[in-house]
Amino acid sequence: MDFIGANILSIQQFERGDIDKVFSVADSMKPYAQRQRATRVLDGAILGNMFFEASTRTRVSFGSAFNLLGGAVRETTGFESSALSKGESLYDTARVLSGYSDVICMRHPQEGSVSEFAKASRVPVINGGDGANEHPTQALLDLYTIRHELISKGRQIDGLRIAMIGDLKHGRTVHSLSQLLCLYKNIHVSLVSPKELAMPEYLVEALREAGHTIVISEELTASISQVDIAYSTRIQEERFQTKAEADLYRGRFRLNQSIYTEFCEPNTVIMHPLPRDSRAEANEIDSDLDGNPNLAIFRQADNGVLVRMALFTLVLDVVHLVEKSAYDVPWFSGHRH
Ligand code: NCD
Repeated sequence: MDFIGANILSIQQFERGDIDKVFSVADSMKPYAQRQRATRVLDGAILGNMFFEASTRTRVSFGSAFNLLGGAVRETTGFESSALSKGESLYDTARVLSGYSDVICMRHPQEGSVSEFAKASRVPVINGGDGANEHPTQALLDLYTIRHELISKGRQIDGLRIAMIGDLKHGRTVHSLSQLLCLYKNIHVSLVSPKELAMPEYLVEALREAGHTIVISEELTASISQVDIAYSTRIQEERFQTKAEADLYRGRFRLNQSIYTEFCEPNTVIMHPLPRDSRAEANEIDSDLDGNPNLAIFRQADNGVLVRMALFTLVLDVVHLVEKSAYDVPWFSGHRH
């Protein structure tokens, strides 16, 4: 794929070589993300960070990634505080805001909205999540994390054994991750959900067509007993008609240290796109796992900055210039690494 000036809307745009490229640029961003070095390569550039749906990590890590490259960030958060609530079309919003920005990141509750917006935008648009459809940058950071966690155990992505757990129907992170796994070989995928919240059939088909082994289950403990990665997800209550409906499924799959010790192979890595629902009735990943070195959720969130820096530098064509404007930071940065 040609990254320069490209919209990043779907994982389907990527081939395996493109993923390698994103990951190698992401690796090169470590000194900047870890605040050993600073660069001004995007000095003068503006990111329009437009989040019309709740977000902490995705919005802030996009903004931080852009700031770390020397660019400035303009935030629009919440539907109610934007002119969309006055009846403005996505087309008009895109025409206007793309005049104020060099690149736009956008999250919106409606499936397909970010692509529609991108058609009217005069600058590249990156999808930060469009309803239950896709979350391509999350899938990239998830796979980047998986690769990293596996390498430290002498493994690689091909041959991976992964369980995806929770709301697989509405979870856009697992939708994009499944599509991404189709680029690799010989993956064993356990899909663990209540049957009402099963992975959409077209994605199960895509995984099968890629030659992967698929096991569909409603049973957590058996499904996590022989995997490298247990990838848990939240019940996406904002996609249900009522909270009561979401409550039916909340807390169905709870992972804690005693379940981990009893059922998982040693060194099974636990992932979650976050936020984990830590309310007592849900508690999908118990805080008693926080001291477990195989809980990768915060490493995963940290990796979001690396992957998003990589995407910005590729789309804005400055990968080769990052080092040229770099310098060692003068402030104390000792606690991060
Ligand atoms: C996810 C999302 O928004 O799709 N969060 C994220 O971006 N890291 C998952 C979720 O909200 O459950």
